[in-house]
Amino acid sequence: MKIFACGLVALLFFLGFQSAYSVGAAEVDGRSSRQTLLLGQEVYQANCAVCHGVAGDGNGPAASMFAIRPRDFRPGIFKFRSTASGTLPTDDDLLRTVTRGVRWTAMIGRFDLPEYARRAVIQYIKTFSSRFTKERPGKAMTVPSPAKTANLVAQGKMLYDQLGCASCHGKTGQGNGPSAQGLKDDWGWPIWPSDLTWRPLKRGSDIRETYLTLMTGISGTPMPSYARSLDSQQAWALVYYLESLVPADHRPNPNQPLGEEHCGWMVVRMGGMMGGGMMGPGRMGRFR
Ligand code: HEC
Ligand code: HEC
Repeated sequence: MKIFACGLVALLFFLGFQSAYSVGAAEVDGRSSRQTLLLGQEVYQANCAVCHGVAGDGNGPAASMFAIRPRDFRPGIFKFRSTASGTLPTDDDLLRTVTRGVRWTAMIGRFDLPEYARRAVIQYIKTFSSRFTKERPGKAMTVPSPAKTANLVAQGKMLYDQLGCASCHGKTGQGNGPSAQGLKDDWGWPIWPSDLTWRPLKRGSDIRETYLTLMTGISGTPMPSYARSLDSQQAWALVYYLESLVPADHRPNPNQPLGEEHCGWMVVRMGGMMGGGMMGPGRMGRFR
């Protein structure tokens, strides 16, 4: 996995940063009360805008520090869902991302924010994309959990070869397949097939999450959904095979910050310290 350095850049960036946020009126989408949206806006501006931008365009003042860019919320495309490819995530999917974060990236989990604040900010980020006023979220997929057997693992290996996972992820899952170079995501940023021999993955270490990745795809990236090619048992076969690719020393302590998470924490903490200057007196503090 790639490790990115950021310390000095973060410091220089914050010393030079002096813009004032303007507070636009929250758009009420009919499903969330105005009060929730105002609270969500406050939480957003204090905790998220530094990366995701005041306008939700993924272009906050810290955005360019990261190799893995903060999401532009305007197209309404989300990677980590329990819902079918092409559909919107559920509120619970978004809550999970905000609470547990996206591992290895600057999107750190904000379990430290009270749940009502996390729920409110989710309603607020939905106002950045008109998709949420036009479409309903997809239906959350159920995840069965068959026990691991040697047969399933062997079947998983076969499927890995047959479905061409290796073209991107490489024969041994290290993310170095022949098609791995030069890939771009839907937002135009470079993207790399994951090194599948490490845990956590972006979505975490829970094998049920890996199952959902295979069945829902990672929208906005070249990682497709395999819901049409796999029944649930075959998907589990692949999940168990993928687990067998992970050596014991590729499972760092889950509480340890990994990859760009270091940098994410730094930005969030420095955002807190510089809060008065960034937001004007009194705008920060309540939700930190
Ligand atoms: C330090 C930078 C940073 C901060 C602060 C930050 N994010 Fe993120 N966020 C990211 C990055 C980077 C990604 C993209 C991760 C990826 O694509 O793998 C992301 C992605 C997301 C996603 C999309 C996940 C998906 O399924 O596609 C959501 C939702 C999100 N952030 C919400 C928030 C909210 C809400 C806050 C404030 C509480 C917040 N973020 C604060 C960097 C940040
Ligand atoms: C066309 C290229 C491509 C193919 C084919 C492909 N993947 Fe991926 N896969 C990706 C990319 C790119 C990512 C990284 C997405 C990201 O980082 O946001 C990814 C990510 C993943 C992840 C990690 C999710 C996480 O939480 O970090 C898993 C697991 C995965 N792929 C499994 C598979 C399996 C199994 C197959 C075959 C059935 C497969 N992929 C086929 C491109 C591909």
